[in-house]
Amino acid sequence: MTGRATSRLPRFPDGFVWGAATASYQIEGAVAEDGRGPSVWDTFCRTEGRVRDGDTGDVACDHYHRWPQDVDLLAGLGLTGYRFSVAWPRVVPTGSGAVNEAGLAFYDRLVDALLDKGITPLPTLFHWDLPQPLEDAGGWLARDTAYRFADYAAVVAGRLGDRVPRWVTLNEPFIHMALGYAFGSHAPGRALLLDALPAGHHQLLGHGLAAEALRSSGSANGRRPEVLLTNNLTPVAPASDDPADAAAAAVYDALHNRFFTDPVLLGRYPDLSAVGLPEMPPWVLDGDLATISGRGHHLDGLGVNYYNPTHVAAAPDGPLPFAPVRVEAPTRTGFDWPVLPGGLHDLLTGLRARYGRALPPVWVTENGCSYPDVVAPDGTVHDTERIAFLDGHLRALHAAIADGVDVRGYYVWSLLDNFEWADGYSQRFGLVHVDFETLARTPKDSYAWLRDEVAAQRGLLP
Ligand code: FCB
Repeated sequence: MTGRATSRLPRFPDGFVWGAATASYQIEGAVAEDGRGPSVWDTFCRTEGRVRDGDTGDVACDHYHRWPQDVDLLAGLGLTGYRFSVAWPRVVPTGSGAVNEAGLAFYDRLVDALLDKGITPLPTLFHWDLPQPLEDAGGWLARDTAYRFADYAAVVAGRLGDRVPRWVTLNEPFIHMALGYAFGSHAPGRALLLDALPAGHHQLLGHGLAAEALRSSGSANGRRPEVLLTNNLTPVAPASDDPADAAAAAVYDALHNRFFTDPVLLGRYPDLSAVGLPEMPPWVLDGDLATISGRGHHLDGLGVNYYNPTHVAAAPDGPLPFAPVRVEAPTRTGFDWPVLPGGLHDLLTGLRARYGRALPPVWVTENGCSYPDVVAPDGTVHDTERIAFLDGHLRALHAAIADGVDVRGYYVWSLLDNFEWADGYSQRFGLVHVDFETLARTPKDSYAWLRDEVAAQRGLLP
């Protein structure tokens, strides 16, 4: 079987960016090389029982050494965009102060190699690998971390800004706050429930300060760089007609979605009085919301990572007043996540309805699925379910564009099978299979499928 299992996708707008995404800790390895400092994920992986099978990112996909091959894989797909993340502990090993030239040089070479192949780099400045010394000083619970993040953003922009037209500041501040600080299933492993909220606010403040640093530093081709924030967003629905479930769903929506989008687009936090939050919590200082909303510089683009919808029930006796419940779907991924492409359409049109003209252009900066893919004896990987997943989601995305949402690009999560956080190497999200013993890369059928679809979109195929 070849990669072609579906009819051609409908035509996307001219200039639409076709991309794939990765993140530093999930692929790079080489955690102690060329001056990189330890991150919270290095520490977390070494803590007994935290990561499945005791897996670590020590080697991961060894992208730090094999990046030329990975750039060739991107080029072989015919992609026009690549979203990767810069490891803060590689560039500023202790989180503040001394800059590590070797770390900057690595990303400098990567950016050049991408541009050489006609691939526009989309660097994300923070995809969860906080330098450990900053965690020791309070992590994102400490306001100071936001200022250190802006310093680091200025360093990276000073080096890459002449070639990078567009940046993502943070990846999924909600997931980082929720799993890292509220529930403790991700690094740094704190379980503070609602007391984790300052970690959300300080990330947003870091976004605002970093945006200022990016805008006032070098720019590609003499143009002001675009600044994006990437949120994990989910359409939320009540589990039943019970008004208590509807109220719980509204609170969940406010925490997961609106807390990370309203301040940036509207300059205010959603009402969280239902969970006892005052209108102005003590950790929101005068001027913070102006910084977060860009002081008149609107966000240039909203990055949206979509995986699945969320259904919520009331939980009157729980530690939090809501509980996500299982969402039924015709098929599920290897992670047991429901496959519901329509959720992407509803999410995007819902954003447009909620924010109207305040919604900037949208970039789908992650979307994808894990399956237990295996390499057949003939060296092929038949990931038909992934093709169906991507095909369905791209059609839903196309429908949202047809309904008036301005979407500029789509990045598949992920280029490579990689280190899936607390689940270690057990979840394979790649278009390319990685053998974690030999580190051999094997393009899956979905790779050929996407290559052909992108070629057709770019007018290179019938
Ligand atoms: C997202 C993360 C990304 C990856 C996917 C599966 O929440 O941003 O790193 O783990 O989920």
